[in-house]
Order: sequence, then structure tokens, then C-alpha cells
Amino acid sequence: MTSGGDAPGMNAAIRAVVRTCAFHGIACSGVYRGYEGMIEADFINLDARSVKGIINKGGTFLKSARSKEFRTKEGRIKAYNSLKAANIDALVCIGGDGTFTGALIFNQEFNFPVIGIPGTIDNDIFGTSHTLGYDTTLNTVVDVIDKIRDTASSHNRLFFVEVMGRDVGHIALNVGVGAGAEEILIPEEDLGLDRLLESLTRSKESGKSSSIVVVAEGDKIGKNVFELKDYVEEHLPEYEVRVSVLGHMQRGGSPSCFDRVLASRMGVKAVESLLEGKSNLMVGLSSDKIQLTPLEKAIKGQSKINKELIRVSDIMTT
Ligand code: F6P
Repeated sequence: MTSGGDAPGMNAAIRAVVRTCAFHGIACSGVYRGYEGMIEADFINLDARSVKGIINKGGTFLKSARSKEFRTKEGRIKAYNSLKAANIDALVCIGGDGTFTGALIFNQEFNFPVIGIPGTIDNDIFGTSHTLGYDTTLNTVVDVIDKIRDTASSHNRLFFVEVMGRDVGHIALNVGVGAGAEEILIPEEDLGLDRLLESLTRSKESGKSSSIVVVAEGDKIGKNVFELKDYVEEHLPEYEVRVSVLGHMQRGGSPSCFDRVLASRMGVKAVESLLEGKSNLMVGLSSDKIQLTPLEKAIKGQSKINKELIRVSDIMTT
């Protein structure tokens, strides 16, 4: 099952789960539309050949949803009855913290075995250095910012580029360093409007004619990125400012090789963990090793940003 915001690599993870089941001689079903489909018993039988030709496809062919009904006890009872009627006796849930919270409650209420695979472009899950889709998104966004820089430098403009990351700045920080941004605004570090102006003034004085400022969607420095533009234009009239909100294009596209390999490793581990009688765990990556973390920790723990990268970025913008 895939649930919550889709992420590149989800299809590759489904393929890995299905093929690992086939390898071990276990029947496997796909659940359409996350917890919504579970409630409505929207299942499909999947064998090794059902998942051919999808390792390179973005999105999730099982589709995804954010279910309100599953948040109610009645909804979860319906979901449990649907699974039992279809002879399904364990779940692999691919998604983010909302998906894992649902899985954990479901396990606690019905003692139903669940294993999570982290799939979200935000990389905001504790217990893994990388979530599925994160690497692909970094590459997609860096490519787009390179293109924005072409037009920014042709017109001597300042661009605010808003990237996804509802509560965290992993995408912004990494693409900011990767694309050579002049400033990176993330929710974890409050730069403040005064320091932003100082930094832009310094940048102009050092001879730069155009600038890119990467802003994480969840950053709190202004109410939104358009307000930041107005503020800078008011205080630094020498700057001509434009805004680019990248939006959902960041979630699409063919998964990178890294995400495909990670999805394959995680899918194998998820099924084999269930076969060993394990439950309530999330499969993650740490120092290039696949490891298991209790779902509860994955949900409650914080995925910290890399402070070293902030320093690297500061030095690079000298
Ligand atoms: O969690 C992934 C994410 O893409 C966030 O970066 C973003 O804030 C959110 O999902 C958008 O959600 P939706 O697709 O429901 O608008």
C-alpha cells in the first residue's frame, strides 16, 4: 500500500515487495488509494509479472490518498474487516509519518503485523538517512534552479525559488548548496529579515549581478515567498526581484538510480522482516546499511538537518 504524498521510487518499492513475496512463495495483494482503498476493499492480486516495467516510473500505480475516514475507529474496523475477508494477514505501508501513525494505531487496535517503508520527498523521517524520492527530487530541483540561474543572470535579477518541505529544510539546504544559492531559508534556522537584507547587500557589493535565494516551503521568515519579494523590493530598490514556486513538479519524474536501488533493498527487507515475525518497524538506511527502527520512534523522532552544510553554504557565498 502507498499512502500520503506520492514520491518517486514508490513503484520500485511495490515491485520489490511483490517480487520478494513471489520469491518466498507468498501471495501478495496491492491496496489501491492507501487507507481509503483498504476501507473499501479495493485490492488487486499481484504476481511477479504484474510489476514489470514500473521500476523507472514516477508516482505510484497503486495510487495514493490521505484518508479522513481511517482516522476514525469505524473506518479502521471497516479496513480490518476488508483485509480479513481478503485473507490478507500483514501489511507493508509505504509513505510518511501520517501513514506510519495510521499503521501503528491499526496494529495496536487489531494486532495486525505492519512494516513501514519511508516514502516522501521531504526526507523528514527519523531512522533513515534517505526516504524514497528524496534523491530524485534533489536532482530534479537542482536542474530547474540551474535553468532559473540562466535567466536570472541574463537580467541581473534576484530570484526567490520556493521548494517543497512542509516542516523541514532538507531539500532547500541540499539544492541550495548544489545549485550555488546565495542564501538558503529553512524552518530550522531563522535567518531573520535584517540578516537577509544584509546578506543581499553584501552580495551586491561583492560584485554579483544576479542572485538565487532558495526558500523552503515551511520557512517562517516571511508569511510567504511573495511577501519576501515585496519586503526586499521595498528595502533594496536596486534589486529587481522575481519569484518561482516550483510546486508539485518536484514530486514527479523517473526515480534516480539511488532511489530505485534503495526501494529494492527496502522492499526485500520489509517482506523478510514480516516473515521473521517482526512488526511495528520501519525499514531505513544508515551508513549504507538497511536497518530497522520502531515505527513509534520513526514518527516521534526528529530528522535533523546537516549543520555542516549550513557552514559550507556560508563559506561558498563569500
Ligand atoms: O510531504 C510531501 C509534500 O510534497 C510536502 O513537501 C508538501 O508540503 C505536501 O506534500 C503537499 O501536499 P499535497 O500534495 O497534499 O498538496
